[in-house]
Amino acid sequence: MNLIYEGKGKKVFTDPASPDCRIVEFKNDLTAFNAQKKGSFPDKGEVSCGISHLIFQFLESKGVQTHWIEKINATQVRVQALKMFPLEVVVRNRLAGSLAKKMGREEGEILKQPCVEFYYKSDSLGDPFLSSEQVLALGLLDSATVSQIQGAALKINSLLKQYFQRAHLDLVDFKIEFGENAHKEILLGDDISPDSCRLWDEKTQERMDKDRFRKDLGGVDKAYREVLKRLESL
Ligand code: TMP
Ligand code: ASP
Repeated sequence: MNLIYEGKGKKVFTDPASPDCRIVEFKNDLTAFNAQKKGSFPDKGEVSCGISHLIFQFLESKGVQTHWIEKINATQVRVQALKMFPLEVVVRNRLAGSLAKKMGREEGEILKQPCVEFYYKSDSLGDPFLSSEQVLALGLLDSATVSQIQGAALKINSLLKQYFQRAHLDLVDFKIEFGENAHKEILLGDDISPDSCRLWDEKTQERMDKDRFRKDLGGVDKAYREVLKRLESL
């Protein structure tokens, strides 16, 4: 296995079994604010891999096309190799995070409708927001692909909202990424875990995601383990 790429939370390796596949390894690291803040906990890789595996299996079972193939061990999965689009796709259901800050409003308002946003993936630029028109004007994606991604993001949102609801978690917002496989099919890539979602406990509104780390609320590991436990029990 050769290391192709090391990100903030994962390593990506070649797959000795297939040139069309990759092995993704979840690390114990946790970062925020473009890696200005760093942390970790001992079984973070295992917990995030477990959560992501359950979510991707669920989405596949509902007909969403993803890069996920199989879990190999506690921290590694096999996925289809994708050429990733340089965009983060955020879907929001409630006002929180950067949108709450931009509007100068408290977190928590339920939005009139879910919204899909694009951010250009660039650590040096701090992942700036791009309108869908800017994505088209800059030639980052064509209009059919923008529409396909917006549709897929909203479908994934409605599926995941219901899924987390069964675990008594409110899906406030999340970030996903898409890419193209060797057959030019557009698939959901990357991973989905409490690193890339805001999940609030349905009853107490307690934060069960990376905001515990971003905001120094404590109990990051406990929250991630609780999310895994609830999803495992579905
Ligand atoms: P935001 O409110 O900070 O824009 O974040 C929206 C969602 O995207 C939230 O669930 C956290 C997730 N996210 C990432 O996964 N990676 C990032 O780099 C950022 C800024 C947000
Ligand atoms: N994912 C980004 C980082 O690791 C920012 C964040 O999630 O807050 O720095």
